[in-house]
Amino acid sequence: MSNFKFYSQYYDLLYKDKDYKAEANYIVSLINKYNSKATKIIELGCGTGNHAEIICPKDYEIIGLERSAEMVDLAKQKNINNFFPQVADITQFKLKEKADVALALFHVISYLSDNKQLINCFKTVHNHLNENGIFIFDIWYTPAVYFQKPETRIKRLANTEIEITRLAQSHIHYQTNVVDVNYEVMIKDKETNISTSIFEKHPMRHFSIPEIELLAAHTGFELVHTEEFLTANEPSENTWGVCFILRKKQINE
Ligand SMILES: C[S@@+](CC[C@H](N)C(=O)[O-])C[C@H]1O[C@@H](n2cnc3c(N)ncnc32)[C@H](O)[C@@H]1O
Repeated sequence: MSNFKFYSQYYDLLYKDKDYKAEANYIVSLINKYNSKATKIIELGCGTGNHAEIICPKDYEIIGLERSAEMVDLAKQKNINNFFPQVADITQFKLKEKADVALALFHVISYLSDNKQLINCFKTVHNHLNENGIFIFDIWYTPAVYFQKPETRIKRLANTEIEITRLAQSHIHYQTNVVDVNYEVMIKDKETNISTSIFEKHPMRHFSIPEIELLAAHTGFELVHTEEFLTANEPSENTWGVCFILRKKQINE
């Protein structure tokens, strides 16, 4: 799959207004609440390390797993202490160490659009968690997708060298709980005025709470809590991103 292959070099610019600090602090508060002794984290789909940059200095060690080699390179260039990003597929990875927490932030799990990928990912995470380990992730929430419907969005950003315009157009596949987000990213070089465009399709799966509960039970987890990502409000048809906290079930349970 090629999503994030070309897009990745513009990722930090496109999300420079995203409040990673507030998100990372929110995640640390969830870790303190649900697994207060945690020190080791596996971060699935760590991207360019924007959450790790804020979480690691709070005495956590993070192994970052990311499919896009370009994103991993950008993450490594940030030289974040106690952050170890590597190229890996979150549906089939093998690490020597286990962790206390697995994180998948900013809709990473929604990138796993079929059941097989989801089951493989959850089982692999289960194998890599210590006793009492927790799995925290946010996903697109089915009631909001159908109530609000994804709209065509335009985003414009610039730095000293380039101007970027990103157009996002969506197509809903009602039979598979997947929305294709078709991105066109236009990049204009400010010095030469030359523009180039890249196109990427990001198929996004959305989920209901009972669906994740069933997936969790099938892969050895129990669903501990759900809430709106960042606000902690109860999920509703207006909640696009819902945060899930799962706990690894012990074998004798
Ligand atoms: C929206 S980005 C989020 C990145 C980062 N967590 C953040 O918050 O900035 C989704 C990330 O998931 C990664 N990803 C999607 N599917 C993956 C897979 N099967 N294995 C590893 N990474 C994956 C993508 O490459 C991308 O970096």
